[in-house]
Amino acid sequence: MVYDNGLDVFSFGVMGENLDDIGHSMANFTRLRWPDLDPQLIVDVGCTIGHNTVPWKQAFPSAEVHGLDAASPCLQYGHARAEAMGVPIQFKQALCDALPYDDNSVDVVFSSMFLHELPTPQIKAFFDEAHRVLKPGGVLINMELPPNDVLGAYDAFYLDWDCFYNNEPFYKDFRDLSYPKLCTDAGFLAADFFQATMPRYTYVSEAEFTEASGADATFDADTGRLSDTITWYAFGAQKSGAAT
Ligand SMILES: C[S@@+](CC[C@H](N)C(=O)[O-])C[C@H]1O[C@@H](n2cnc3c(N)ncnc32)[C@H](O)[C@@H]1O
Repeated sequence: MVYDNGLDVFSFGVMGENLDDIGHSMANFTRLRWPDLDPQLIVDVGCTIGHNTVPWKQAFPSAEVHGLDAASPCLQYGHARAEAMGVPIQFKQALCDALPYDDNSVDVVFSSMFLHELPTPQIKAFFDEAHRVLKPGGVLINMELPPNDVLGAYDAFYLDWDCFYNNEPFYKDFRDLSYPKLCTDAGFLAADFFQATMPRYTYVSEAEFTEASGADATFDADTGRLSDTITWYAFGAQKSGAAT
């Protein structure tokens, strides 16, 4: 309950009506980018109270959608929240380095504002797990802060400020990583890496979102920075279609 209300205050109200714009944006980006995907199982890792999990079920009504987190109180609240919204989501307590799925069994592994909470070995373990559980052709998509090397010095420092002064110890280490290398180290092919920037899905028209999210990623002070003109950043990879 505190998180549900506090996030809206912390983020100056830019996250959408139900704190769910990131979920809507990522789910609809996925729908537009991989129109043949037809996912049967979508997993949101580090889902907290499921506010960005719910939109995946709304974008892909025939898919089973799971929200995973280490914290059971968040999952209990998230379950009640999703039920109250009339959206069926399965919530499970699980760690990102031991995803409770068989090899090649998941269509989409999603995370949102999650990787920067982890020490680097855990991020790598999560990517290994994502690659393991994804079906060939499945997609790993992470909404995150953009890496340091695409921003100017001031904007890069601005995003790392919390690392030094607001108890976010892993922000900078994460943003200094090579995101393509994170993917290839886990087994994804370099050619299957993607990154994208996009406006908020629930704030713009379908046509504007489709055009912007389909273009090459562009980076400026609005990328991932709380403002009325914020743009989301996402990166990940599609698992090679070849059987592994
Ligand atoms: C910043 S919140 C994620 C926010 C949410 N996904 C969103 O879209 O706003 C980070 C979450 O990661 C969870 N978490 C931290 N370490 C984890 C791990 N190793 N495995 C699974 N969940 C973890 C925390 O309990 C917390 O709910």
